[in-house]
Amino acid sequence: MKRNLIHSVLATAFIAGVTACQTTSNKLTLEHQGDTLTVVHIDHPAKYLILPIQETSNEAKVRLETGSAADCAMDVRLAVDSIDYYVPFALNGQNTVTIRRIGANALCWDSIRLSDTFDTANRDYYRPVYHHTPLYGWMNDPNGMVYKDGEYHLYFQYNPYGSKWGNMHWGHSVSRDLIHWEHLDPAIARDTLGHIFSGSTVVDKTNTAGYGANTMIALYTSASDEYGQIQCMAYSTDNGRTYTKYEKNPILTPFDGLKDFRDPKVFWYEPDKKWIMIVSADKNMRFYSSTDLKEWTYLSQFGEGYGAQPNQFECPDFIQLPVDGDKNNMKWVMIVNINPGCMFGGSATEYFVGTFDGKEFKCDTKPQVTKWLDYGKDHYAAVCISNTGDRTIALPWMSNWQYANITPIKQYRGANGLPRELSLYTKDGQTYVAANVVPEAQALRKESRTVDNFSLTDEYNVKQVTDGQNCAIELEMDITPSTAQTVGFDLMNAKGEKVKIYLDMQQKRIVMDRTESGIVELAGPNKGNYDVHVKETDDHRKTLSVNYQNDFALGTWAPLSLCEGKTYHLDIFVDKCSVEMFVDGGRIAMTNLVFPTEVYDSLRFFAEGGEAQVTHLNIHQLGL
Ligand code: FRU
Repeated sequence: MKRNLIHSVLATAFIAGVTACQTTSNKLTLEHQGDTLTVVHIDHPAKYLILPIQETSNEAKVRLETGSAADCAMDVRLAVDSIDYYVPFALNGQNTVTIRRIGANALCWDSIRLSDTFDTANRDYYRPVYHHTPLYGWMNDPNGMVYKDGEYHLYFQYNPYGSKWGNMHWGHSVSRDLIHWEHLDPAIARDTLGHIFSGSTVVDKTNTAGYGANTMIALYTSASDEYGQIQCMAYSTDNGRTYTKYEKNPILTPFDGLKDFRDPKVFWYEPDKKWIMIVSADKNMRFYSSTDLKEWTYLSQFGEGYGAQPNQFECPDFIQLPVDGDKNNMKWVMIVNINPGCMFGGSATEYFVGTFDGKEFKCDTKPQVTKWLDYGKDHYAAVCISNTGDRTIALPWMSNWQYANITPIKQYRGANGLPRELSLYTKDGQTYVAANVVPEAQALRKESRTVDNFSLTDEYNVKQVTDGQNCAIELEMDITPSTAQTVGFDLMNAKGEKVKIYLDMQQKRIVMDRTESGIVELAGPNKGNYDVHVKETDDHRKTLSVNYQNDFALGTWAPLSLCEGKTYHLDIFVDKCSVEMFVDGGRIAMTNLVFPTEVYDSLRFFAEGGEAQVTHLNIHQLGL
């Protein structure tokens, strides 16, 4: 613990009966009032107060004082005895900030400073080359995604004040092609009603809410200990850059006082000319309807006992898709993100196929049938972009609540998986969702190499198509197992760290094994007590000290029975710390994080127990 001058001055001041102590630096005066309140006085406000962060510190309360009842404190892990990184705190022309719950002897007071700029140049080794990440801070669910006037809006659960979960805002990025993203300022900030949890955005084409035709309207959950989880609304008249919160929020509270009631997805239901909201309600999804987006009527609920157990439902979506491309045969698909319940532990995305009559959803399958949108361990909170016409495009968050807060990354935490186009296919009398990478991803290909006529025992070096620093590649190939029992490859580096991808024909599975992929003890070599954010708690802010088990070192697998042929087409995207695999046009999707300590630069193929063929091997170097 640091013992600095301020501390000793403060102690003397107390002895002398004085209650405040001031230090001045660079247009900024720190007035320590006791040991738990510091008032920061700023002579000439700059754009930001730059705050030093220590991830293991407790959260201090930092509040911009404007004199309004709407002033809201943010939870910031201010540095006590070491600094991990800095975050900017926007001053918006104000000159007073109060900081509570941190001692006057903490290290942060020495390096807190004013600045008109904040350097967002990348400092993280594992930052992906072509996946969307926030410039800094924490990101979880993509939410509120909508297409309007040529722009895809990606809003996301965002903490601008540190790279751990907290202070939920809607961060904001836009893209014209689903691949290149421009970072914008957060669109909706945490307020006195609570964190701004996940939700959705609609384009109000016919002005049902009264803010003008084509206004963008966001529906989200406000979450706080005081008011619980309640649904709120905000509208934007500047193409989604800023939102005005509805003055009569909330628009919907749970009729039974339910604690877990969140993540509203709203869509227009043309047959009844009304809006439908699907919202997660503990172990169910509830449906409501409205004509003006403000008054909501309860319709029905679905879910308890269905799919993987245990099943805390979160982040719903509800979409209609043609079966096998036949527009005369449409089915409804309920996307349900569950935490926990992933077949490999932690969080994952399942779905149910069925019918909807404007009031109730009926599932085609028995409660015990579980269908997964992705068979990896790092695919969560996947929902679709609204207003995309005939296309249905989903985007996941690429992490798992088991370890999302402790990945070996600092400046930012959280990336999105590549956008996936959803469609329905039938197999053995069942209807499944295929999730295939969007064709726009082909624009990432910078240099391509086709490899013909190689033997399965060759070690094929992919170094020529990496730049030596980044493994940002797409691998395409057709694998025909013929008589082999296993056939596949290791994507590896000189240290022998590898991701092993193979067909196991005895178990009839495709496997992605990351047990030897690099850093797999996420919490460090000695498993011990770590503060892990536990999502099952009521208010999402509690942390539990748990004996952290290694949930990372494992292989994930999917049943090959989802595919048709004797040859399997693999399309695999690697980007520094992630591997996404799409088999046979997305009949199987599998998304996993990996943390190699050196760049993967070679492919080593193998086949055991018989003959197998690998053909049409294409290696593309990818970049933006
Ligand atoms: C899913 C989730 C949502 C919630 C959000 C909070 O990951 O738990 O249910 O809205 O994260 O950040």
